[in-house]
Amino acid sequence: MTRGLEVDFTDPAFQADPHPTYAAWRRTGPVRRTRLPSGLSAWVVTRYDDARRALADPRLSKQSAFSVGSSEAANRAASPAAILSRHMLAADPPDHTRLRRLVSAAFTARRIESLRPRIEEITRDLLDAMEGQDQVDLIDAFAFPLPIQVICELLGVPPDDRDAFRDWSNVIVAGSQSGSRLEPAIRAMVGYILALIAERRATPGTDLLSGLIQVRDSADQLTESELSSMVFLLLIAGHETTVNLIGNGTYLLLRDRDQWERLRAEPSLLPTAIEEFLRYEGPVETSTFRVATEDLEIGGVTVRAGDPVVVMLLSANRDEARFPDADALRLDRTQNPHLAFGHGIHYCLGAPLARMEAQIAFTQLMARHPDLRLAIAAEDLRWRPGLLLRGLHDLPVSL
Ligand code: HEM
Repeated sequence: MTRGLEVDFTDPAFQADPHPTYAAWRRTGPVRRTRLPSGLSAWVVTRYDDARRALADPRLSKQSAFSVGSSEAANRAASPAAILSRHMLAADPPDHTRLRRLVSAAFTARRIESLRPRIEEITRDLLDAMEGQDQVDLIDAFAFPLPIQVICELLGVPPDDRDAFRDWSNVIVAGSQSGSRLEPAIRAMVGYILALIAERRATPGTDLLSGLIQVRDSADQLTESELSSMVFLLLIAGHETTVNLIGNGTYLLLRDRDQWERLRAEPSLLPTAIEEFLRYEGPVETSTFRVATEDLEIGGVTVRAGDPVVVMLLSANRDEARFPDADALRLDRTQNPHLAFGHGIHYCLGAPLARMEAQIAFTQLMARHPDLRLAIAAEDLRWRPGLLLRGLHDLPVSL
């Protein structure tokens, strides 16, 4: 139950529409200490200006955050979970600088752009598979498999292994809510990734993983655990975020058919429309944890050294002080400096890939199914539990 300004994050009513709660927080206590679903008590930052400053504040550490925000098992240095935490999103400079530089050398704009024809083909195949059906779950049939296939293709994960990946990834992202299934899923994922790296080391290809193995920068290179950790981060980020951009965007267009018709009539609006989906109902609800390395002030509140801090991206992106008419979905919004991809040194590395996937997905979906409609009332749609990501459990549509 949502009582006053406190909230039960697991309440389906909150999950269905968290925005009124965030709006109240922005008004009455924009930086507040709150118990998160994991049980951890953290400062949550809800206003745009504070959020943007916090995301770029070097006194808020990602490296220290790992030991606070994760399970006891994860803290044991040699545990699988620890091996999977040596990536850039769990690092501060200078480690972060080095990791991001090395990975960026393989994750180039050219490599991403070279995927375009293949992403178009995967999208076409998924739409072909939906042909002849009256009704489908668009998450299951389209929004989920598309980014999975793209990231697996990018990394060179064979098609037969992709279902197992999807299962492990779901369990890992749900974190503590997965209970006893969490550790086995992490262990299985680590084992798989290590085997994949060994195989690609023996027989290099043109995929990103081969690129990451070969990358060298003034005699520097990724260690084995940094490599497996990076692959893990890319797989999770590639699996669990873009699905929500496609799912949430389609939902926003279909719940108000005028928006769908407008975008069909003016396809040149698609780039600003995608930015507006990212702002209005972004795929990632909160930033990952940060921890204050010294006493500091955020939005007039003193945060003590050692305190965990989480930025509510969804809330910042609806801040009326930054976005005129913030609660309105405007497909032609041009001034849209949203924080859906984060901000500062940890700004999403995969943003160009996610934008390209979304452009291809919406272009083909609207062309193939101009009469697409929600098959159930918008109020009856179920949102996925958990605070980190914001996405629909399923999206039944009639074709
Ligand atoms: C619409 C889809 C996506 C959204 C909304 C999104 C969002 C984000 C956000 C908010 C962060 C920063 C988190 C923080 O500072 O706590 C981030 C970081 C990151 N994302 Fe994404 N992401 C998306 C897709 C992807 C994809 C497809 C990939 C890779 C294939 C990717 C790879 C990464 C990486 C590697 C980082 C860490 C960057 C660093 O620490 O320097 N993301 N993403």
